[in-house]
Amino acid sequence: MPEANREQAVVKEGKKSFTIAIDGPAAAGKGTLSRRIAAEYGFHHLDTGLTYRATAHALLKQGLPLDDEALAEKVALALDLSGLDREVLSSHEIGDAASRVAAMPAVRRALVVAQRRFAGKRPGTVLDGRDIGTVVCPDAPVKLYVTASPEVRARRRFDEILQRGGSADYAVVFDDVKRRDERDMGRADSPLKPAEDAHLLDTSEMSIEAAFQAARSLIDAALKTI
Ligand code: C5P
Repeated sequence: MPEANREQAVVKEGKKSFTIAIDGPAAAGKGTLSRRIAAEYGFHHLDTGLTYRATAHALLKQGLPLDDEALAEKVALALDLSGLDREVLSSHEIGDAASRVAAMPAVRRALVVAQRRFAGKRPGTVLDGRDIGTVVCPDAPVKLYVTASPEVRARRRFDEILQRGGSADYAVVFDDVKRRDERDMGRADSPLKPAEDAHLLDTSEMSIEAAFQAARSLIDAALKTI
């Protein structure tokens, strides 16, 4: 981390945690961006998508139904955030199941409590998801909404699958991206949308490096005001 940023991070120690909220649809680049920001500022990072994925995975693993809200809530309440394994949870099947349990208000309530607790860690935190700036941390001093066209996001997903040695059909991946967007944006509880005070970063034609530099300017400016 550059000296100036480290100083700013240290200055806030002892004060309230500084939270950076990052939202956006699947495959917009928010995960990579969030990890990079967390490393830059020495902040804790939580990919909140993993909390929904872990809930769905626990149900699938035990052969339990995905549409029983009371059961899913119980699983969500018992979730240990320190045991979230990106490798285990990254499959398409788990992602799809996650967006189904994520539509259940009782599941969201349980996970949001755990996410807010995480957000209070010092010196600062980066949380990424769908409702961080709108619901989980509405007072976050920096909110980013990272997006890209569905075509670009589907292409990234498709390339990622091929790079990992898998095979895929672009049209299927594209349909999947669209279906997930519709489910996440159309649900009644905490739909995906930019917070009113979020800064929009469209990465359709922007490299992750350029997005990171834009985010850094916003964060540095906000750190100066605390
Ligand atoms: O980001 P990721 O693809 O891992 O998220 C999986 C699913 O979890 C999303 O499609 C969404 O339905 C749900 N989710 C959510 N709120 C969050 C993070 C993820 O509803 N804050």
